[in-house]
Amino acid sequence: MRSTRCVDGIATIVVDASGLGRSAAAQLQRELEDAVSRVDGVDEVRVALMADKVQRQIIVVGSGKGGVGKSTLTTNLAVALAREGVKVGVVDADIYGPSQPLLLGTAGQKVRAEGQTLIPTESEFGVKVLSMGQLIEPGKAIAWRGPMVGQALSQLMDADWGDTQLLIVDLPPGTGDVQLTMLQKFKPAGAVVVSTPQDLALIDATRAIDLFNQAKVPIVGLVENMAGYLCPECGAVSSPFGQGGTESASQALGVPFLGRIPLAMEIRVASDTGQPPAASDTPHGPHFAGIARQLGEFLGAAKG
Ligand SMILES: Nc1ncnc2c1ncn2[C@@H]1O[C@H](COP(=O)(O)OP(=O)(O)O)[C@@H](O)[C@H]1O
Ligand SMILES: [Mg+2]
Repeated sequence: MRSTRCVDGIATIVVDASGLGRSAAAQLQRELEDAVSRVDGVDEVRVALMADKVQRQIIVVGSGKGGVGKSTLTTNLAVALAREGVKVGVVDADIYGPSQPLLLGTAGQKVRAEGQTLIPTESEFGVKVLSMGQLIEPGKAIAWRGPMVGQALSQLMDADWGDTQLLIVDLPPGTGDVQLTMLQKFKPAGAVVVSTPQDLALIDATRAIDLFNQAKVPIVGLVENMAGYLCPECGAVSSPFGQGGTESASQALGVPFLGRIPLAMEIRVASDTGQPPAASDTPHGPHFAGIARQLGEFLGAAKG
């Protein structure tokens, strides 16, 4: 409550609604109006909601190609940061393969809207989420081009994110319309690029980094996913896609190397059932937590 006043039967109340989402703020306003109008001598109630604008940062997770673990990394970075107390939202901007509702276990929930404004769904991991998959019918994405893509992306980005401090955006693979809109319109604070270790994936990752460089989006760093397979039968470690390629590529490109995530059956199984490995103390949690910590440091420095 910042101030209250009652003159000639008109009660004026100024309240601080910082951090409340639009719907929560509207509800607070209704409740105040309701309660104060019942006070003797009050004929009219005027409620003014003040809010400090949340300084929200945007991080994009990109890759040159699909299937390298962009979505898996996005989910687990978000969950790891939420465990550290950061208020995180995930925007699933992958029009070709939206997967965040599945990964965050919110697939059964319908997205709500107030007027034109979408209300993000809440996962059980303290991460809010909105997905392109909630705006388009499965299988229709291919017909989407430029302006439609831009509009849909804006709807997700301008949703009622409330006190969310950080939005992590799961980009589609490559360098298409979503990327361009994202970079031009929303100016992310940084980009995390995911690659598998083999040369072909690295060539694509390099292309993604070029795009971010051109758009002057700082690269947080490169992540090597699916490095080293630990055989559950014999315990031997093999490297189906090679190993270390991403780290040397990051040196060659002059961008930080953020870490390596092994190819592990548990990661795939847990992810598919909406139980992100970073959410509990699984053996693979620390891999994601380590990368999340570096992202946290980057964001702290970016804020100045
Ligand atoms: N480190 C990993 N170990 C095992 N499976 C993984 C790993 N990373 C991703 N996967 C699996 O690989 C598939 C593709 O990953 P996904 O995150 O959807 O990639 P992208 O978003 O880049 O297309 C998913 O089935 C996912 O569970
Ligand atoms: Mg994906």
